[in-house]
Amino acid sequence: MKRILEIHHLTVRFGPRTILKDVSFSVHEGEIVSLIGPNGAGKTTLFNVISGLVQASAGDVIFLGRPITGWPPYKVCRAGIARTFQIARPFPDMSAEENVLIGLWFGKNFARSDGVLSKASEAAALLDLVGLHDKRHTPGKELTLSEQRRLEVARALATHPTLLLLDEIAAGLSPHAVNQAAQLVLSLRDRGMTILLVDHFLNLTARVSHRLVALDQGEKIVEGSPQEVLHHPEVLSAYLGEREPAEEV
Ligand SMILES: Nc1ncnc2c1ncn2[C@@H]1O[C@H](COP(=O)(O)OP(=O)(O)OP(=O)(O)O)[C@@H](O)[C@H]1O
Ligand SMILES: [Mg+2]
Repeated sequence: MKRILEIHHLTVRFGPRTILKDVSFSVHEGEIVSLIGPNGAGKTTLFNVISGLVQASAGDVIFLGRPITGWPPYKVCRAGIARTFQIARPFPDMSAEENVLIGLWFGKNFARSDGVLSKASEAAALLDLVGLHDKRHTPGKELTLSEQRRLEVARALATHPTLLLLDEIAAGLSPHAVNQAAQLVLSLRDRGMTILLVDHFLNLTARVSHRLVALDQGEKIVEGSPQEVLHHPEVLSAYLGEREPAEEV
C-alpha cells in the first residue's frame, strides 16, 4: 500500500517543555487514521507541524516520499495537504460559497486557468457534499458551529488534497451533529480520501477509522486497530482513567 504520510522520530520543544517526543507512524493511501490522546497530548501540535505552522525540533515529515519538514503552510497546502482547525476559522465576513472559493483559488490547482464558472460549480458541489447548499450566501460568522466545521471541510477539500487533516470536527456539537460529522467522514472514506483525524468522540473515531494512534504526554503509546487501541491497558489508564471506553471523553 502506498505511503502517503510518514512521521519520522518527530520531536517538538517549546522552550524547556517537550511537547512531542520521538513520534513515528505512517498513513497509507485510502486510510483513515485517528490520533487519540488526552487533552494536551500533542495532537494539534502534530497537525501544526505537518501543516507548517510549527517547526519541528527534530525528525521529519515525509509526504509522498519527500521531506516537507519546515515548509511554509501555503507550500504544504499546494503539495496536497489540507486541514481544518480545532477552533473553526471561516473567513467571517465572506459567504460560505466565497470561503470555499478561497480553497479553490489558492489550493493545489491554484495555477490552473479554468474559469470562474467552473470554480463556482465546484464550490456548489462541495457545499452540497457537506450539506450547506442552502447556506451558500450566509456569511461565515453567521453559521452555527456545526455548519462552520462542515464549511472548513468543504474549504479544505476545495484545495484538492491528497491528505486531509481533521482536528476535532465533532467537538462541542449536539449528538445529531456529531452523527452528521461521522457520516461526512464516512462519505469521504467511501470516496477513497486519505484522512488523519483527531477527535475525542471515541465512538466516532472507532466507527470511521481503520487505525488509531494513541499519544500521551507527547509520546506514542500504541497504534493498531480501534479495538486493540481502545482496550490497551496503557490507553485505558492514560486516556480513560482506567475506565472502559466511554461514549465521549
Ligand atoms: N505555541 C505553544 N507554545 C507553548 N506551548 C504550547 C503551544 N502550543 C501548544 N502548547 C502546549 O503543548 C501541549 C500540547 O498541546 P496540543 O494543543 O497539541 O494538545 P492536544 O492533544 O491537541 O490537546 P486537546 O485535546 O486539548 O486539543 C499543551 O500542554 C499545550 O499547552
Ligand atoms: Mg487539540
